[in-house]
Amino acid sequence: MSNMEQTLSIIKPDAVERNLENEIKEMFKINGFTILKEKKIQIEKSEAEKFYKVHETKPFYNDLCDYLSSGPIVVMVLEKENAVFGNRELMGATNPKDADDGTIRKKYGISIDKNSVHGSDSFENAKIEIDFFFKD
Ligand code: CMP
Repeated sequence: MSNMEQTLSIIKPDAVERNLENEIKEMFKINGFTILKEKKIQIEKSEAEKFYKVHETKPFYNDLCDYLSSGPIVVMVLEKENAVFGNRELMGATNPKDADDGTIRKKYGISIDKNSVHGSDSFENAKIEIDFFFKD
């Protein structure tokens, strides 16, 4: 049965800064994702705080929001069968040192903070995160 889904992906400042945008997009395409929408933007810290609100009680919240707003990012809507789970598999573990070979974070991630990509963690959050960046 078909389960076409969309998920939100962000290429984070560390990866944009190292000019990895095209290589990372290629990894999505090779793995069967269609990039339906994309834009390169820089967000305010206040917007990062809204985006990462689920993490507001975490000790790393402030640094995380400083970081996401520190430079240009590329936000994308990816589409594929089971896109949410598939994107999480392709990204690999949050901490690049725990990520499996062949994953984006293993290949490009520098640290748990500078882990190159974000991806929605559930179908519900994917809808919320896509609306956050692409509601018009
Ligand atoms: P991301 O998938 O964008 O979601 C939240 C981010 O917080 C995560 O990737 C990491 O880059 C960052 N982060 C920093 N410290 C931690 C931590 N201890 N656990 C989880 N995420 C962390």
